[in-house]
Amino acid sequence: MRRYVIAGNWKMNMTPSAARSFITELAPKVAGKDKCDIVLCVPFVDIAVAAEAAKGTNIKIGAENVHFEAKGAYTGEISAEMLVESGAEYVIVGHSERRQYFAETDETVNLRTKAALAAGLKVILCLGEVKSERLSGITDEVVAMQTKLDLAGISEEQLKNIIIAYEPVWAIGTGLTATPEQADETCGVIRKTIAKIYSEKAAEEMIIQYGGSMNDGNAAELLAKANVDGGLIGGASLVTDKFTAIVDAANA
Ligand code: 13P
Repeated sequence: MRRYVIAGNWKMNMTPSAARSFITELAPKVAGKDKCDIVLCVPFVDIAVAAEAAKGTNIKIGAENVHFEAKGAYTGEISAEMLVESGAEYVIVGHSERRQYFAETDETVNLRTKAALAAGLKVILCLGEVKSERLSGITDEVVAMQTKLDLAGISEEQLKNIIIAYEPVWAIGTGLTATPEQADETCGVIRKTIAKIYSEKAAEEMIIQYGGSMNDGNAAELLAKANVDGGLIGGASLVTDKFTAIVDAANA
C-alpha cells in the first residue's frame, strides 16, 4: 500500500555539469522502474540543471535544505519559493549534518518544514539517534521526541507531503549500517509515534525511509522490512550503477 521512495542525497558533491551528465546516464537505467518514486536531492546550484535534465523521466529533483523565512536579509540562505521556481519538488530538512555542523535544532527543523510545505514542496524530514544514545538504550525516546518536536503544529493533512527518513547518525558515511532488524524496529517506533500524535491511518500511510550506508549490497534486505519504505542514500547515490541497483531492489 505504501510506495517505496528511493532518494539520493548528493550532499556537497557534483557541479552543475556533472549533475547533467549523471542524470543523462541514470535516466535510461531507471526508466520504467515505477514501483518506487525516485528522487535526487542536489546542491542548490545544481537544481535548475538537474530539473532540466530530468524532464520527461521518472526522476524527481529535490534540494538539501531550505530557509524558513520567505525573503529578506538572510545572506546565503535560499527560500522555498526559490527552490520551487528552480524546479525542486522535494527538500531534505533536518539532516544530521545540518544538526551537527550548522546548529540546526528541532525548532528550526520544524520551521523549515512548515515553510517548505507552505510553498508546495514535499519534505524529507531526517531524524535519528547518535551513537551514545543508542549505546545508552535511549534510541526509542530520542526518535519519538524528535518526531514530536519536528512535526509540532503540522496537520494530518499536511503530513501527506512529508516523508520521514530515519538516519542513525552513527551509520552515516561510516560504512556501518543498522541491521535490518534495528532499522525496522526504530522505523516502527517512529510509526507508533505518528499513530499517537495523529491517527492509525496516518501511521499506516506514513512513508518512513532508512538512511545510513544503504548501498547496492544491503538495500534488498533493508527494504524487505515491513516498516522500511525506502532509502535516503548518500555515497551510493553518486554512482549510477549503485543507485540503479537500489532502485531495482525496490522494484523486485
Ligand atoms: P551515506 O549513505 O553516505 O551513509 O549517507 C546517508 C545519508 O546521510 C543520506 O542522507
